[in-house]
Amino acid sequence: MNIILFGPPGVGKGTQAKLIADKYNLKHISTGDILRAEIQKNTELGNKIKSILEAGKLVSDDIMIEIIRKTISSDESKNGIILDGFPRTVPQAIALNKLFQELNGKINFVIYLEVDEEQIIKRLENRFSCENCGKIVNTLIDKVVDMICPSCGGRLIKRDDDQPATILNRMKVYRDSTEPVKNYYQQQNLLFFVDGSGSVNEVFEQIDKILGT
Ligand code: AP5
Ligand code: MG
Repeated sequence: MNIILFGPPGVGKGTQAKLIADKYNLKHISTGDILRAEIQKNTELGNKIKSILEAGKLVSDDIMIEIIRKTISSDESKNGIILDGFPRTVPQAIALNKLFQELNGKINFVIYLEVDEEQIIKRLENRFSCENCGKIVNTLIDKVVDMICPSCGGRLIKRDDDQPATILNRMKVYRDSTEPVKNYYQQQNLLFFVDGSGSVNEVFEQIDKILGT
């Protein structure tokens, strides 16, 4: 099974992708996580893209498609994947279709998560993630003491792009460049709408129902 989790910044893609990957034994591919790891490692690519992520702009399609090509073709992806953060432009979506054709695979579901903008901003302003295990928390709802990860005891950190001005820019970039991808998948009858405004478990139950059909 190959799934795309789609939706605006902060809607809960990373949170839900982890739960789905665990339940269905899929490889979770978060392009944001891959790019942030490159920046952390100070690679040539990492240095090239650092300012792009900090500004909340999009990394070029060529770079992103190459990253996805490598990841999807790897053995770890054989059992199926859940894509979180890709595709983000129509050319990326077209390239992904071609890639699946080459690999004799297909996209089974595109899950579109929806939450209103005000709630998203609140979520992002209160998001922290564990630098050790990657767990994502929301300090408004999760019990967090001394900025220590409730799962593994690692240090919780704030993302560089979770500053108010950058959040607004990410929303704008989403509306301008990423929203058209929704129509692309709707035309292929692959799009499933999910209300992302409930609790993490409530949202997961809705997704689970769709995937189980
Ligand atoms: P990326 O890392 O993908 O960021 P994003 O799309 O902006 O999405 P986020 O990770 O911010 O949010 P999310 O939907 O995963 O929500 P989360 O689960 O964390 O991309 C970062 C950057 O990389 C981009 O800006 C771009 O520069 C570049 N990039 C990446 N992919 C690219 C591509 N394909 N092409 C070009 N450039 C690319 O949840 C958010 C918060 O809400 C957390 O605090 C969480 O605990 C909380 N929360 C989640 N669910 C709930 C709930 N149900 N109730 C209450 N709180 C909740
Ligand atoms: Mg994410």
